[in-house]
Amino acid sequence: MTKYISIKEAMNKEKGTVSVRGWIHRERGSKQLKFITLRDSTQIIQCVLEKKDFEKQWDEIDHLQVESSIMLTGDIKKEARAPTGYEIHVKEIEIVGLSDKFPITKDQSIEFLADHRHLWLRSRKMTAILKIRSTIFAAIDEYFKGEGFYEYHSPIFQAVQCEGGSDLFSVDYFGKKDVFLAQTWQLYAEPAIFGLEKIYTIAPSFRAEKSKTSRHLTEYWHAEMELAWADFDTIIKYGEELLKFIVKKVLAERQDELKIIERDPKLLEPTVKKPFVRMTYDDALKILKDKCQMDVPWGKDLRTIEEEKLTKLYDVPVIVTHYPKKVKAFYMTEDPDRPEVVQGCDFLAPEGHGEIIGGSHREHDIEKVKKRLIEDGEDPKEYEFYLDTRRYGSVPHGGFGLGVERIIKWICGLDTIKDAIPFPRTMERYKP
Ligand code: 4AD
Ligand code: MG
Repeated sequence: MTKYISIKEAMNKEKGTVSVRGWIHRERGSKQLKFITLRDSTQIIQCVLEKKDFEKQWDEIDHLQVESSIMLTGDIKKEARAPTGYEIHVKEIEIVGLSDKFPITKDQSIEFLADHRHLWLRSRKMTAILKIRSTIFAAIDEYFKGEGFYEYHSPIFQAVQCEGGSDLFSVDYFGKKDVFLAQTWQLYAEPAIFGLEKIYTIAPSFRAEKSKTSRHLTEYWHAEMELAWADFDTIIKYGEELLKFIVKKVLAERQDELKIIERDPKLLEPTVKKPFVRMTYDDALKILKDKCQMDVPWGKDLRTIEEEKLTKLYDVPVIVTHYPKKVKAFYMTEDPDRPEVVQGCDFLAPEGHGEIIGGSHREHDIEKVKKRLIEDGEDPKEYEFYLDTRRYGSVPHGGFGLGVERIIKWICGLDTIKDAIPFPRTMERYKP
């Protein structure tokens, strides 16, 4: 039986006979020669076939189209003129799956590529992004496990809101109303810290925001943590360390992929090396006024454009803390010295990629929580299970949520979050 190795392994061998398999990435031919660029999950390599070696098969070889799957055996050697510096002189070929004329050629519109997403996934660009994505998921797991957190899972069907009722997706749950898809794990995570103390998850979250922006998905992957006995600073410290850990791992393991997508790794290095910039909401307004000529009235949330201007002043993420109570969620702790602001934070990515982490310390005063739920138009009775967290041995605690696709968009320098996930779901698109 032939032993097939990856193209990368074949290139590492540098010479000798190798057997590889994959898909035809590019092809061109003349009467006597056929050049195939073969692609597998690891690399691409130029392969040459000579007619004299394949008299019987030549007609078939000559008609091979892009994306056909093939298995090859031949001699590998260094070849400076080949796209990746190596070439295989093919001695045997087995055609596994012929390909119809591949619909994706050069310069297709964004819409066309979105309609053919299932085929576009095999592009070098998407493959590189998906490898970086895989590394980022691994980094999040590794970081939290290394810090002694337990992986914990919350339900996706929920009967409460946590991040604002207008963003909820309702579900027809056997004819029952008021069942929604999770916006966050948080209300089902807080009860678990009484047993596990340190928990995290990576799970889908759903937002019915009517936002057609380059940073909103209706379904995204949400990495969240919740921690008992924590003050606000500790929560922020974990957020900063996690981001440093993720970026460091990508820089260590995914240089080839960053190159394929033409992302300059230098832009990511300050995040690993330097402390993040930290400021209060009030400071942010001052800086926006002084350095960006933008006047934000106190009490208004920062808009995308303001976040963008602010983060472009620095080369590391910016942590904005102490937002006005009224722009943040009901569960955030009031600042003891200034009850009009809360111990909540947003981490804003460099280069204008926007909010990547939202977190807070959690309000422990059950009456305050109830009052703010009522102000949000909610019936506290529906939240009894959650309010019990404040009745039976409550401890200071907090946590945050990180939008994994937002991180991927920033790390890869993508124009749109849609390229950070295999099959993006947005207001306008839920197919294929
Ligand atoms: O700021 P958010 O709404 O915070 C929460 O859900 C908290 N309950 C988290 C917690 O404390 N456990 O969302 C957290 C993060 C945002 O910072 C952003 O990165 C991401 O989730 N996010 C989105 N990502 C993609 N598309 C959307 N529509 C997103 N909405 C939020
Ligand atoms: Mg937020």
